[in-house]
Amino acid sequence: MLADLLRESKRTIVYTGAGMSTESGLPDFRSSKTGMWEMEDPSKVASVTALNQHVEQFFQFYKHRVLAAKGTGPHQGHKILAKWEREGVIKGIITQNVDGFHTMAGSKNVMELHGTLRKVHCETCGQVYDNERYENDEFYCECGGKLRPSVVLFGEMLPEEPFLQAIVESEKADLFIVLGSSLTVTPANQFPLIAKQSGAKLVIINLEPTELDYLADLVVHERKIGEVLLEANDLLLH
Ligand code: APR
Repeated sequence: MLADLLRESKRTIVYTGAGMSTESGLPDFRSSKTGMWEMEDPSKVASVTALNQHVEQFFQFYKHRVLAAKGTGPHQGHKILAKWEREGVIKGIITQNVDGFHTMAGSKNVMELHGTLRKVHCETCGQVYDNERYENDEFYCECGGKLRPSVVLFGEMLPEEPFLQAIVESEKADLFIVLGSSLTVTPANQFPLIAKQSGAKLVIINLEPTELDYLADLVVHERKIGEVLLEANDLLLH
């Protein structure tokens, strides 16, 4: 059915969450037992408060995530999505992920709602550096300000440009495919709603149930994204 929907669609948008990168070896946030927020309290390590009041914990948490992302990379599912964009099967990807794997896999139209781990910037002067500063335990700018990853922390606004573009893409889509998100975090979880309200068919592919399953035209649980994309790709070829 997914292959049929992709064939019929004129404008498919894919929307990804942390479940898109678990098959690259990166943990997601809310899977029971393995999710990052099962081990850490996000307000203590991934919030503006953490940056201001628990800065050593903040630095170590993000250093660990920078190293983890550098130790792996896009898997075959990311590469299939990049191929589908080249072939015109999909028009773009709205992602909550900060690992940069969609761009690394060759996707061009990628809206990074929550920023990127691949860069850090000074919270005082704004100077941008590569994230290897964190690998080398360099947590301060030449100006003396703290260096922080260019991700959206809890308590911060989302970057305007990708957010506005994601609204336009969600309104124009006639097929909107969610891959690997619990859809629990606002405002990122509004885009499937916008797409559905604008007349798109909604597909949700996620190991566990999500908060928006009731809205979907097709729900696929208990299947890994990599396998589902590979199967759909094989069907599209024939
Ligand atoms: N295939 C399919 N689904 C998967 C896979 C997989 N290989 N691996 C994990 N999942 C599913 C899990 O069942 C889970 O429901 O992906 C979902 C990931 O949900 P979350 O961990 O909540 O991640 P996400 O939805 O991206 O979180 C949103 O929360 O902490 C913030 O900023 C952070 O961007 C993140 C946001």
